[in-house]
Formats: sequence, C-alpha cells, structure tokens
Amino acid sequence: MAQDIRDGRRRVIVLGTGGTIAGRAAAPGDNIGYAAGQVGVSDLLSGIEAPDGISLLAEQVAQIDSKDMTSVVWRELALRCAHWLAEPDVAGIVITHGTDTLEETAFFLQSVLSPHKPVVLTCAMRPATALAPDGPQNVRDALVVAAMPGAHGVVAVCAGTVHSAFDVRKVHTYRLDAFDSGDAGPLGYVEEGVVRLHRSWPGAAADVASGLFERMIEARTWPRVEILVSHAEARGSIVDSLLQERRLGAAEPVQGLVLAATGNGTLHHALEEAALRAQSAGVAVVRATRCAQGRILPKAGEAESIPSVGALTPVKARIALMLELLGSPSTA
Ligand code: SIN
Repeated sequence: MAQDIRDGRRRVIVLGTGGTIAGRAAAPGDNIGYAAGQVGVSDLLSGIEAPDGISLLAEQVAQIDSKDMTSVVWRELALRCAHWLAEPDVAGIVITHGTDTLEETAFFLQSVLSPHKPVVLTCAMRPATALAPDGPQNVRDALVVAAMPGAHGVVAVCAGTVHSAFDVRKVHTYRLDAFDSGDAGPLGYVEEGVVRLHRSWPGAAADVASGLFERMIEARTWPRVEILVSHAEARGSIVDSLLQERRLGAAEPVQGLVLAATGNGTLHHALEEAALRAQSAGVAVVRATRCAQGRILPKAGEAESIPSVGALTPVKARIALMLELLGSPSTA
C-alpha cells in the first residue's frame, strides 16, 4: 500500500522491508530483546522532515527480520525500485532494512539495477521503541542522500556514514556505527543535512550485464549457491553430500559453491580436493577470503585451479556467482 506524505516537486520513495529499525520491544530500555519488522514504514517517517523541495511516498514491500531474507523479497524489491526509478519526478529511493543482511541486499540491487539515481539502504541498531532510537536520524540522513542531485548507485547510510554497496559490511554486533567499508573507506558522511563526499558514487547502468534484470525476474528459481568455510579440520564430506543430491536429481541441486578461504585464498586440502571433484561434476566453484579486510591477490605466473573473487566477501561472492549462473545456458 502506498501513502503520500507531502506534496512537492520531486519525490523520494521510501520502501519498507522490516528490520530492527521497525522493531518493537516490550520495555523501552531493551535494545536487544525485541521483535524486528513490526512498525509500518509510514510510521517510521512520522516527525521526520523531508529535504527541501521533496515529497515522500512510503510503500511497504516486506515486513521481515532480514536474517530471513529471500529471493522472493529481493525480486519484489528490485521490481519496485525499477518501477519508481523510471518515474521522471523521482529523485531517489530509500529502503529501510534490517542490518543483518543489508550488505547482501545492497550488493544484489547494485548488481541488477546499477541505477543512475540513488538507492539508499538504511537501518538501525536499536528498535523503534528504544529510549534513544537511532533509526530516525539514519532515515533523515538517507533522505538527504536520496534527494542529492548527482548522486547515483546503491549505497548504505548508517550512523552518518555513506558506504558503497560494493564495500559495505556489518562489522559490529551492537554499536550504532556497525558498518564499515574496509580498505576502500566510506564514500562520505552526512553532517547536519549536508553530504561530504570523499569518493565517487558506485558505477551506473553500463555495468549491468545485458538482460540480467529480465532473467532475474523471469527465472522460476534462482541457481542454488552454497557457502562453505575452510577451517582447521575442514572436510570434503559436505561437498560430497551436495554432489550426491545432484546425482539423485534433487529439485534444487547445488550449482555453485563459494569457498570462504583462509588468508590469501588458501583452502584446507580436504576441502580443496572435494571442491575440485565438484568442479569436475559441473559445479561452479570460486574462492573468497574469510578475512575481514583485504583481497585475494593472485600469485604471479600461477594458474588458479579454483578462481578467486578478489575483494568480494563470501556473501557477496555468493550473489555474484548466482547472478552469473542465472545468465548461463544451463540455467536459462
Ligand atoms: C534484521 O536484520 O532485520 C534484524 C537486526 C537488525 O536490523 O539490526
């Protein structure tokens, strides 16, 4: 259901998906014992001033705890974003979202839309019922970014900091400033309604593979890609179980594996051997580092038997591989 909040010349659309920002706790002092995704997105906007010359329109796309994010919600979100971005008077979009998978949704939307207007995900670490909720200021800052002339691409705004969808990741379980952009650093900051930009916005439209958006919308199911972590005493038995499922004709057989590798992309030998068996059986396998910072650097003159994904985190590598497989002939 859409609701007009205020009349104006340009619009910012606010899409609600749930999260702690829409959470309710029984006691106002409780910042962790709450249910996420309870308060409607229109209510989240009450008392928040729109940027000058902007009217707001709120639409509830989902109402979930983002740990339970699904391809159904992602598909709907991508469709609503594409619809609103095509409206000439829409300056940008704000998405209220849980913090737990915000980086995945941001990366997914950037990968399928690469929008030439801003799509700004925002969130909160404290529920709406907290004594001092952080959501309202985050929403206000996100509206400023979404209304900013020249802004484009998918970004996240939290605790006054603007992060690119490519770099953002949740790094803290409790602090209000829970996100980081790793080595790349934030795109900028929002200070008293003004954006101080340090880097350029994420790339626009040309980056999206041709037809990817349509294939993503039309596919009955998306390719199944699993993440497996390499660690002390890692085994290949989970890979072998997945291969066995494929052989037995499972309804959704594994099509891709992301190996969350140690350090500069190394794997426990047992996991590596199993991963190579998976590769021979037609499963796409890539390596991402499980390190919180840095990228996998290729070794000069050494061919990679399992390709690496550079700086992508395992969860973003999973999305990148799933979208790549969506475009491959076997899953089309
Ligand atoms: C969620 O991700 O939906 C719950 C946790 C949060 O938003 O901080």
